[in-house]
Amino acid sequence: MERIKQALERARIERLNREGGHDVVELASSPKRIDAPHTEPSARLVPRTQEVFWPSLNARRVVGGPEASALVDTYRVLRTQVLQRMTNAKMRTLGITSANPGEGKSLTAANLAISLAKKVPVLLVDADLRRPSIRQLFDLGPPTGLAEYLTGDNDIEECIFNPGIDMLNILPGGAPCINSSELLVSPKMLELVEALKRSDASRLIIFDLPPLLTADDALAFSPHVEAALLVVEEGKTTAAELERATELLQGTHLLGSVLNKSTQTHAAYYSYN
Ligand SMILES: Nc1ncnc2c1ncn2[C@@H]1O[C@H](COP(=O)(O)OP(=O)(O)OP(=O)(O)O)[C@@H](O)[C@H]1O
Ligand SMILES: [Mg+2]
Repeated sequence: MERIKQALERARIERLNREGGHDVVELASSPKRIDAPHTEPSARLVPRTQEVFWPSLNARRVVGGPEASALVDTYRVLRTQVLQRMTNAKMRTLGITSANPGEGKSLTAANLAISLAKKVPVLLVDADLRRPSIRQLFDLGPPTGLAEYLTGDNDIEECIFNPGIDMLNILPGGAPCINSSELLVSPKMLELVEALKRSDASRLIIFDLPPLLTADDALAFSPHVEAALLVVEEGKTTAAELERATELLQGTHLLGSVLNKSTQTHAAYYSYN
């Protein structure tokens, strides 16, 4: 976590340097001032560990613990394909979105993140600041999350959880925000993404995004993820909505689509472009 703090500080200084100004020169050449925030003695620097209770997660269809489940195998197939494609293209950030609300983005993001975390370090970020749900899916503690980090003085370490699941860390959303799309593309958010990428070159960052067709959040943030997965709900997402959603993601590498709530299998079914 200390590496994340250092990377954030570097990103902040780089941004200030880009913007110009005297303060910048002074900050960059003043180790005392740069180090000041890190020297405060505080237990907050330790990431929060909060082990999950699997039966409770399973009740919400979050799988990957000691239980046997056909769903686990399905997500393993998805994991393998996502990992291959992202590794081959040297991509480390993945946004999960869909056309409409309720099509299964958050559940897909959660289960894919759990499955990936058996192989590589993963940070699952709830980037649906309007309707965050990752905290509730994992039964995580008090509402300090991405929204509080972006709007307040919280350290990032206060907001990231270690749920005790392999190499998974979680940055939940926090209290619901109205100005979510502005926050998602704010300099502080973009610096955070860069700092998180820089602090661990082997980490994949999975963003649970809002739906594409009901707000501009996912569209605004999509240039800042390298790859995207589009969740499609069988019998609900129409061909026209899927086409429109795909068009909106044109600037982002679309890894494929996930056919969710499919009646063809007892779990979910995945298809790729
Ligand atoms: N494959 C599935 N089988 C059965 N139920 C599912 C499946 N995927 C999601 N659900 C259920 O559908 C509901 C919506 O799922 P989820 O919250 O993941 O959707 P979402 O797209 O993230 O919604 P929102 O747009 O509100 O963020 C939840 O109750 C979830 O348990
Ligand atoms: Mg969701």
